[in-house]
Amino acid sequence: MSESPSPTTVLRAHAEDAHADELAALAAVDDRPRPPRWRLSPWAVTTYLLGGTLDDGTEVTPKYLGSRRLMEVAVASLATDRALLLLGVPGTAKTWVSEHLAAAVSGSSTLVVQGTAGTPEESLRYGWNYARLLAEGPTRAALVPSPVMRAMETGTLVRIEELTRIPADVQDALITILSEKHLPIPELDSEVQAQQGFNVIATANNRDKGVNDLSSALKRRFNTLVLPLPDTLAQEVEIVRTRVDSLGRSLELPPGLESLAEIERVVTIFRELRSGVTADQRTTVKSPSATLSTAEAISVMTNGLSLAAHFGDGVVRADDVAAGLVGAVVKDPVQDRIVWQEYLETVVKDRTEWTDLYRACRELG
Ligand SMILES: Nc1ncnc2c1ncn2[C@@H]1O[C@H](COP(=O)(O)OP(=O)(O)OP(=O)(O)O)[C@@H](O)[C@H]1O
Ligand SMILES: [Mg+2]
Repeated sequence: MSESPSPTTVLRAHAEDAHADELAALAAVDDRPRPPRWRLSPWAVTTYLLGGTLDDGTEVTPKYLGSRRLMEVAVASLATDRALLLLGVPGTAKTWVSEHLAAAVSGSSTLVVQGTAGTPEESLRYGWNYARLLAEGPTRAALVPSPVMRAMETGTLVRIEELTRIPADVQDALITILSEKHLPIPELDSEVQAQQGFNVIATANNRDKGVNDLSSALKRRFNTLVLPLPDTLAQEVEIVRTRVDSLGRSLELPPGLESLAEIERVVTIFRELRSGVTADQRTTVKSPSATLSTAEAISVMTNGLSLAAHFGDGVVRADDVAAGLVGAVVKDPVQDRIVWQEYLETVVKDRTEWTDLYRACRELG
């Protein structure tokens, strides 16, 4: 057996490890009723997600920035017998929220099925260790449980990422699991019954090509929650700032490099291109094919941070973000380039305080 790597050197710690101290502090002060096998009460899970100060003075950092009600609905629905489906355009924190929910409710976010066009039924039910199957015949020891089966046995949450990418006939395997709460194993003439605490959090984005619609039978077994794009510029800037700050720390980039003005600019450009109109509502602009989500604004800024730290003067400036910005906007080399050039010449050029950015983008050609 190999030793598990030290949590201080892994590139990205699981939510339950990265925030172990917050989760422990919440569990300590949490005297509200907990649903069976939940590590925390719904109130404490929501506090973990949205942040706050505990009675003992512990600061809980906000993970999700947005509507409190939305998170309350998500948490409450996990405490019922219906599964939770987080739906939304790319980059609206569906995966992020599901990971933190699993960490807070079950203490582990690692039971996860990644949905792809090639996801087989074994990923939702069980498979076999063929060497053992041949040697011993079908036994429980030869059976390889899926994350879903393990969650049923342990009464925990399992995450299913990109549910709508899974072929429709494979998705159907979930119907019995979600409605009957058991998983038959005909080969062993037995079954696994879900323990209290078991539930499913699925994510799906409604923008992707090549997705398979959910059957109405499956849809009925989920409470669907749509995660929206951030309402205001200020809110989106705050999301980007918090994430860039913590990513910068985990990449050991010097602190304080990110400049709020630069984040505001990138987010303004993304919002204007996304909505097709400038912030002052005066000029209409064309939208590129790219989604330009908050998640992409975060990567543009993180790239800028790395450039500034390693090659610049230590502060993120226009030429540090320009390359990432153009890369995020121009996904289609022909159409998007036209859209971008037009935006550059009609909007960016006219903003006097944006000349540095205009020049940096022009230099990139
Ligand atoms: N409202 C928000 N609050 C906090 N973080 C957010 C918010 N919106 C986006 N993010 C950040 O955006 C990043 C990307 O989110 P995530 O990967 O969860 O998106 P997604 O909705 O799963 O997208 P996809 O459909 O592409 O899988 C995360 O790092 C997350 O922190
Ligand atoms: Mg996702």
